Amino acid sequence: MRMRGLLALLTIIILLAAFASVYAQLSETEAEQKFNQYGCTNCHTEGGAADPWDEVLDEIRAWATEYGSLDEGARHVVYFGQSGKFNSFDELISQMASNVGKSPSDISDLVQFLKNEFNEAKGTAGGSPSPSPTTGGGGGGLPTELLYAIIIFIIIIVIIVAYVMRRR
Ligand code: HEC
Repeated sequence: MRMRGLLALLTIIILLAAFASVYAQLSETEAEQKFNQYGCTNCHTEGGAADPWDEVLDEIRAWATEYGSLDEGARHVVYFGQSGKFNSFDELISQMASNVGKSPSDISDLVQFLKNEFNEAKGTAGGSPSPSPTTGGGGGGLPTELLYAIIIFIIIIVIIVAYVMRRR
């Protein structure tokens, strides 16, 4: 009986952790840290071969107003003087990943952040009144922290309930 309760508890915690890892989005600060950590700043830096982080972000947001999709934006990127090098955003990301000796799946958290930025900007650009969950400009750190807080809260409740049930 005790074993089973413990197992159920563990399962719930694992499920919650899986849920968190899928839905937790990087905050703007975390995304910038990844950008540094992955070595993107080898080129993407002030006075470097490519736009620094801030400008990459601005660029992605601007695409939301200028183009219909990330793929279309990617087709307009001039890569070391070469225009039309990328046919899709995925192609661009593959190139960027290999620039730092990684595969796209290694940098998927950062890529997801960029896609979310585009989609959020798209929501605003379209003039739709749907409120964005992250506050613009400030860095959108709140949703991740809020999500973690909720998950930790649920875990604590589950542990308390499991403990009380076991003592009966
Ligand atoms: C070898 C140099 C180099 C490295 C390393 C590199 N990039 Fe780029 N990247 C470029 C160039 C050149 C462009 C073309 C536009 C520009 O100058 O920013 C570009 C464009 C982009 C764009 C399109 C938006 C824009 O600003 O034009 C994104 C998004 C991007 N890079 C992400 C990344 C990410 C993420 C990494 C790290 C995994 C990375 N890059 C690493 C050279 C590089």
